Amino acid sequence: MQLLQETNADWWEVEALYDLCFAPGREALSSYRLREGVAPVAKLCLLLRDDSGVAAAIRFWPVRIGGHDVLLLGPIAVHPTHQSEGLGGWLMRESLSRAAQLGWARVLLVGDEPYYRRFGFQRLDGVHMPPPTNPARILALALVPGGWDGVRGDVVKYDTPPAPPPHRRSCHGSDAT
Ligand SMILES: CC(C)(COP(=O)(O)OP(=O)(O)OC[C@H]1O[C@@H](n2cnc3c(N)ncnc32)[C@H](O)[C@@H]1OP(=O)(O)O)[C@@H](O)C(=O)NCCC(=O)NCCS
Repeated sequence: MQLLQETNADWWEVEALYDLCFAPGREALSSYRLREGVAPVAKLCLLLRDDSGVAAAIRFWPVRIGGHDVLLLGPIAVHPTHQSEGLGGWLMRESLSRAAQLGWARVLLVGDEPYYRRFGFQRLDGVHMPPPTNPARILALALVPGGWDGVRGDVVKYDTPPAPPPHRRSCHGSDAT
């Protein structure tokens, strides 16, 4: 099994793996709204490949919360014939270690806490994904001490301009002044 950084040539093979592993309509999930039109973090999009193809893959996107850069982890999937062999854990640990080396301070994901807590992810109150998202599935990991301190609010797309300061927001309903 080889650990590789995903290339453009791998894109559709990874998409096929995700289609196989997730329920139909996965792209209707709110996390996909945050990814549309934004480039993934290429150095953190990793896959595990053997002679029969892509066995597992993980991707990351940048998002913002209150002007802070945040890594959104996912999707991650392991081919059904390879699940519970440790490949998911391998991709998680390797990508999170690389994220820390690249200087990212915090990671967010939407997923099953019973699986992700082994990597240090915990529930995080006060951070809101676009609806509909079950708040119990919003999980966070700090890659530096205090990485989530003071980082609260709506998760928005990476290219969303920061909200104007409050005194400019109360312009009686018009910003054309
Ligand atoms: C979830 C997934 C990525 C885990 O990868 P994996 O390679 O199978 O997992 P690992 O081998 O690293 O770990 C296996 C352990 O995780 C547990 N596990 C797997 N999925 C779990 C889940 N959703 N909740 C709780 N535990 C889970 C297994 O029971 C196993 O437990 P054990 O170590 O006590 O035996 C993989 O099963 C998968 O692709 N599932 C379908 C797609 C998916 O749900 N992706 C995650 C979206 S949140």
